Amino acid sequence: MKEPFSDLLKESSIFKNRAALSPNFIPEHLLFRDKQIDSIVKVLTPSLKGDKGRNLFIYGKTGTGKTSCMRYVLDKVKNISTVRAKISYINCRLHNSRYRVLNKILSDHLPAYAKHGYGTVDIYGKIINWIEEDTKILVVVLDEIDMVTDLDDLIYTLTRANNDMKSGGIVIAGICNNISFKDKLDPRSLSSLYEAELVFPPYNSNELSEILKQRAELGFKKDVIEPQAINLAAAISAKDSGDARLALKMLSNAGELAEEKGEKKITIEDVRDASKNAEEEIAYELVSTLPEHQRLIVYAIAMLTIQGSRYKKLVQGEDTYLFSGEVYDKYVAIINSLKKDPKSSRWYRKYITDLEMQGLVATYESGKGIRGHTKLIKLLYPPAKIRNTIEKGLFNESEAEVKTT
Ligand SMILES: Nc1ncnc2c1ncn2[C@@H]1O[C@H](COP(=O)(O)OP(=O)(O)OP(=O)(O)O)[C@@H](O)[C@H]1O
Ligand SMILES: [Mg+2]
Repeated sequence: MKEPFSDLLKESSIFKNRAALSPNFIPEHLLFRDKQIDSIVKVLTPSLKGDKGRNLFIYGKTGTGKTSCMRYVLDKVKNISTVRAKISYINCRLHNSRYRVLNKILSDHLPAYAKHGYGTVDIYGKIINWIEEDTKILVVVLDEIDMVTDLDDLIYTLTRANNDMKSGGIVIAGICNNISFKDKLDPRSLSSLYEAELVFPPYNSNELSEILKQRAELGFKKDVIEPQAINLAAAISAKDSGDARLALKMLSNAGELAEEKGEKKITIEDVRDASKNAEEEIAYELVSTLPEHQRLIVYAIAMLTIQGSRYKKLVQGEDTYLFSGEVYDKYVAIINSLKKDPKSSRWYRKYITDLEMQGLVATYESGKGIRGHTKLIKLLYPPAKIRNTIEKGLFNESEAEVKTT
């Protein structure tokens, strides 16, 4: 009999350190981002020294290094003794409402209170008192800020706090990859959020090559990857989007393929094969980290796509388009079966817009004649795989809920 863990115990011939190829890894030196890092530091320096500085807004397409640069700066700041500000880094994909953001601030800085389950007003009061106590500056970094469902309320609350406090202040640094985000904001939130603005451009092919080379050295054993293979991964990603996450995914998948095949080197062919799956895999990761209701809406869409729309005959073409109404009904049925309360159809429409922004679904107006004027929805990834990804996550649901609140 084969030793059960033999594959696990066998030393990899390709990888030296898989973690160095993961999207959460921050290299010691971030390439091609000196200017952006400098700008972040410049805008935040007054606040870090304890003055009320400007709010900052960072925008750039996915995989352009926004999160990495911000976390890099925050890591450096930790070790500087003259920094007086308190900092909360908040991933809004997890903390996606005003309540959750305020609660995260409380648990970062006043953990003893965070367990009490206070309401929004009390949490707000606690934070204000704490800031006033010794004239603190609180820097709140809101990463993936467009995921906050009641964002205007959140911005209003955080900026109003500055008027309510006798001393100290709150500075917001928002990060976002969604170009039409501005259109969704109340003009008042917009003007307070955009006091300083910073854009991260997509990487070109040469830049991606360098980024990949740096990570390949950390992640792979010596000389296992051919330079041409790195250049190909860079070129494919640059052509597609300039997304470093996609390029890295391609590289590590190519490594896995080479290892599976028992090859000694990662070749151009491995990269080519890996490129086919990298984008899909990123989509599945995205789906599994969506907030609960959006995830269940995607689940409803996947289920209906597999079963076929009830109104299929009304919609022309091979693809499965679903009616917005039937997706909502399905979502409500799923939520009910989980013994939870569904969101209203107004929220539902907002969520569909969010999912479209993230490239998971496409929507079309049906034009007159088909059941009046209605929206048609189409899933952009293979439905069975999306369904399986979500079902895998559903078993950990209750646990995930506890962690995110
Ligand atoms: N300049 C860089 N040098 C080295 N690695 C980089 C650089 N920029 C991005 N990366 C790597 O690419 C991946 C994606 O970067 P990051 O998460 O910072 O992108 P992002 O702009 O926040 O994307 P999103 O909008 O999707 O959140 C990470 O693994 C990161 O380490
Ligand atoms: Mg990010």
